[in-house]
Amino acid sequence: MKPIVSVKELMDLMIDPASDYVFDSIGTIITREKTTDIQPRTDDDWRRLQIGAVTMAEGAYLLKVPRRFAPVGDENNSSGPDAEELSPSQITARLEKDPVLWNAKIEALRNASLEVLEIVKKKDVNALWGACDDLDAACENCHLEFWYPGEHAYLSKLDKKLEELYGSEHRIGPGRSKFGMEPPKPTK
Ligand code: HEC
Repeated sequence: MKPIVSVKELMDLMIDPASDYVFDSIGTIITREKTTDIQPRTDDDWRRLQIGAVTMAEGAYLLKVPRRFAPVGDENNSSGPDAEELSPSQITARLEKDPVLWNAKIEALRNASLEVLEIVKKKDVNALWGACDDLDAACENCHLEFWYPGEHAYLSKLDKKLEELYGSEHRIGPGRSKFGMEPPKPTK
């Protein structure tokens, strides 16, 4: 198999958008005016979840195909003593040191995606929140080993991402309990 894009692009253009189909399927959006519960209701909603889960379950193994970590010339945010991210060559060194760990993280992503697929089969809304938490853990546990080791970088990145994604609107959803918010259980 001959790869086309780097790991970074595979994340940006395939794994991450596919995961949004899953993460965005359940949660609560709170604005000053109202609170809206989100959960899959229609066949289209379930199909979106299925598309996300299949794309990740199959796509995970594309991470086993040896490929660059970032495009040529892209060094990630890796310069200076407080660098948040590892450089592509630092990531490569970690992978070469422990390929078994890299493969285990890939399997974890695949398993979390399969968990979502099972839920789609049963249309089991109540299990969805927990599956999203498992998926979130599968992403972050690999990133903490191979992308941005260090709790500080991890948290500041999530903060930035939250701000970027939701601005002043406040969204509570799976995998976001790290911000000290206890997520409410989805209502039927
Ligand atoms: C097996 C390890 C692994 C798993 C599992 C994994 N990632 Fe990644 N991801 C990486 C690595 C390594 C990078 C950094 C690549 C680089 O920048 O050199 C990365 C980078 C990213 C990026 C940054 C892309 C960019 O353009 O800067 C996003 C977004 C991302 N991952 C999302 C996810 C999501 C969402 C999941 C789970 C659904 C996930 N990843 C699961 C290894 C993984």
